[in-house]
Amino acid sequence: MSTLSTKHLLGIKNITADDIRLIFETADNFKEVINRPIKKVPSLRDTTIANIFFENSTRTRISFELAEKRLSADVVNFSASSSSVKKGETLLDTVNNILAMKVDMVVMRHPAPGAPHFLAQHIDANVVNAGDGTHEHPTQALLDAYSMRGELGDLRGKKVAIFGDILHSRVALSNIFCLNKLGAKVMVCGPPTLLPKHIEKLGVIKSHNVTEALNWCDVANVLRIQLERQDIKYFPSLREYSQYFGINKKLLNSLKKEIVIMHPGPINRGVEMTSDVADSDHSIILQQVENGVAIRMAILYLLANKRN
Ligand code: CP
Repeated sequence: MSTLSTKHLLGIKNITADDIRLIFETADNFKEVINRPIKKVPSLRDTTIANIFFENSTRTRISFELAEKRLSADVVNFSASSSSVKKGETLLDTVNNILAMKVDMVVMRHPAPGAPHFLAQHIDANVVNAGDGTHEHPTQALLDAYSMRGELGDLRGKKVAIFGDILHSRVALSNIFCLNKLGAKVMVCGPPTLLPKHIEKLGVIKSHNVTEALNWCDVANVLRIQLERQDIKYFPSLREYSQYFGINKKLLNSLKKEIVIMHPGPINRGVEMTSDVADSDHSIILQQVENGVAIRMAILYLLANKRN
């Protein structure tokens, strides 16, 4: 059986194209499982997984928990806001106390970039990064690319434009690494203040013109404006952002082709895209969420095999 090249999933930067393809092929099997009347397999029956979230989450947290339960793992959920972190306990002490209860795998979201990497250096359990600050969100990028593959087949040569707040986005960085490894062409589009300087060095094209980017791409992956990470004003107002950089139905109708619309969620409706775009036939936003469970089942299953 093929295996992953890594014991942890910390980011897309350090995994191979073969790892990504193996995750996709494994997810194909689990997608079939979760569409059966009995959606459960015994693969991780003797495995205990802790979901440790130091930041808010709806999709990622529920998706991991469902994936773990579909694989028959024992699951414990930890939320920093209701824990002894509030009394000053360190990250390592917190995790070591959880591991002392014989936990095999840790899924962690943390506001500090590199927090899962730090953890992986100090513990034996497999670590999965569920989003570390503005750094990486590997499972989101994998489910995004898997969803694109579902629509377009092999991604080699396909054109993906990522719109919006690239500067603060872990989803953008992980998507860029993932799509580059799979041979897709990537464009980033947004106001100059929200595109990192020298982003072209990551092998992407840069644009500040939404119409140009929409005409270029096969897939538009539209990102949220992350007001909670913006310490200064990067644009005059949300209204102006929406006017110049928001995606609306009139823009989509003006294109001479059909494109796929994606968004990792949560959506600021009326800011980065209008509701008639988010809910249109072009949108695969809810398919992304559905695919997220199969992708996370595949990742947990393959990482658990690295322990055996
Ligand atoms: N896409 C995503 O990471 O959403 P949550 O913050 O709700 O997990």
